[in-house]
Amino acid sequence: MAKKILIINGPNLNLLGVREPGVYGAESFDDYLPRLRREVPEAEISYFQSNHEGELLDCIQKEGFRQDGIVLNAGAYTHTSIALHDAIKAIPAPVIELHISNVFQREAFRHHSMISPACRGVVCGLGLDGYRLATLALLRL
Ligand code: DQA
Repeated sequence: MAKKILIINGPNLNLLGVREPGVYGAESFDDYLPRLRREVPEAEISYFQSNHEGELLDCIQKEGFRQDGIVLNAGAYTHTSIALHDAIKAIPAPVIELHISNVFQREAFRHHSMISPACRGVVCGLGLDGYRLATLALLRL
């Protein structure tokens, strides 16, 4: 049976393809998602995006008990949210933290993650292909 993998994108990631294309690329997530599904057919991939911290928390709390794994790009909440850290720790599904850009090549305020200690692993700086790599990693856990 296919493993259920949920991708969660946080604030401003609805603007992928439009937002700072030099940093995040020129492709929207809606364009990328069908390709990801084709590239990893052994995963049943669902997708959620929100700009609101509370909605991300609600999603993690609900889906964290019925998914086999979660790929989480928490956007800027990565660097601020103890609540996301706590939600990740509260659920059984393993969570991989993902960043499209290499946050360590960027401003110092992006160098610290509040959620890394709660996550199973981190994929960072590999562009949209990081979602494929994180999904494959979750399938093998
Ligand atoms: C990001 C990096 C964060 O620092 C930033 O706030 C984002 C996107 C990334 O995917 O590279 O919104 O998570």
